[in-house]
Amino acid sequence: MRDLMAITARPDVISLAGGLPDTSTFPAETFASLMEEIARESCASALQYGPTEGFEGTKDRIVEVMAAEGMRADTEDIVVTTGGQQVIDLVTKTLVDPGDVVICEAPTYPGAVPVFSSYEAHVVQIEMDAEGMRIDVLEETLAQLERDGRRPKFVYTVPTFQNPAGVTLSEERRRRLVEIARERELLVLEDNPYGILRYEGEQLPPLYALDGGEYVLYLGSFSKIFSPGIRLGWLVAPEPVLAKVKLGKQAADLCTSSLTQRLVESYFADGRWRRYVSEVSMLYRDRRDAMLDALAEYFPAEAEWTRPAGGLFIWATLPDFIDTGDLLAKALREEQVAFVPGAAAYLDGRGRSSMRLNFSAVGADAIREGVKRIGKVVREQIALYSTVTGQHRAVDPERLPRQGSRQEPPSRPRGDREDRLAEVVQLPERKPKRRGAGGA
Ligand SMILES: Cc1ncc(COP(=O)(O)O)c(C=O)c1O
Repeated sequence: MRDLMAITARPDVISLAGGLPDTSTFPAETFASLMEEIARESCASALQYGPTEGFEGTKDRIVEVMAAEGMRADTEDIVVTTGGQQVIDLVTKTLVDPGDVVICEAPTYPGAVPVFSSYEAHVVQIEMDAEGMRIDVLEETLAQLERDGRRPKFVYTVPTFQNPAGVTLSEERRRRLVEIARERELLVLEDNPYGILRYEGEQLPPLYALDGGEYVLYLGSFSKIFSPGIRLGWLVAPEPVLAKVKLGKQAADLCTSSLTQRLVESYFADGRWRRYVSEVSMLYRDRRDAMLDALAEYFPAEAEWTRPAGGLFIWATLPDFIDTGDLLAKALREEQVAFVPGAAAYLDGRGRSSMRLNFSAVGADAIREGVKRIGKVVREQIALYSTVTGQHRAVDPERLPRQGSRQEPPSRPRGDREDRLAEVVQLPERKPKRRGAGGA
């Protein structure tokens, strides 16, 4: 992912890879005046170390932001962190010994993959459908783990406008997940940076609101509602977890930036952040629509994709003979366009024919052009495959279906598909190669 970000920063590349907000939305004038005010009025505390758990004033703002999504948090249960990313790291560091089981979605947030790997967690990924994580599969998995004498340390989930799949956990499944957590005394880490960026439909209760903060740990972030550059996120957790996390945080970085905490305190002091969120939501909704239209126009009939009601990402799945890692190399080299290959969202090499597409960072014209260019390389791969094998294959109908898409996925009788699969000529095996861009 790091390599990929470096390549996509090139000005000639259209990047649909990152999860970045559009820089033109950053409130430059407000930022300048607030920083001046901070320099005048709270220079000492802004430039000094702060408490490990964060400033009370910052936590008060966090409580307000959470209230906007129907959650009631207590400042005592909050630790302010260096981005939401640090929460994933600290919670894993606190709870996981090598070999311990962590459960997450398949696909999962690509940034969580290296965290789980670095603490040597045994990660079990639960498949999703258009309503988010398959809770029935989760229950079967938990039962199987129990039979094997294994108890997961926590379930990590991005239930709303998931990164990377764009799908949202239905209310019924949310309620069942919280029930399971309570029945089994199982911790759930709810990662919710996108919940407030909703473009249509009714708001769903966060897991934290349903549980009241007993078994659900909550990860929030200011990155998508203000700025990722300030590196501010937070964790809400019950005291026994919080105490350990604070020790872990002391070891990691002593405290989160006092300066950016003061900035957040000032910026979120009045209603302007709500206006900002509603403005960027309108902008991103239009871009999502532009991407969906472009996908319908430029992607081949064999592809399918999700239709997110919020957030920043669409997950597209191609026929399984296409490896999106290879496709990315070709797309970058020949068409100067980037996306995140699906394998980055798995710990076991799955996801190789999927890709994550971001629609927040560039304008509608670039989105359209980018999708057109990716569509071109995809079509070339499909044509090549058809020529080599004399076959034409569609995506597996059981893979993550699009959400309420206008265009239905190609449906074929299963028997027919199985028959055709039996005739497929094997392509030569790919040689193992050095890790390339986005291969994290
Ligand atoms: C699901 C998810 N969790 C956590 C993060 C980390 O966010 P940050 O550290 O900027 O708060 C991201 C960033 O894109 C994300 O998508």
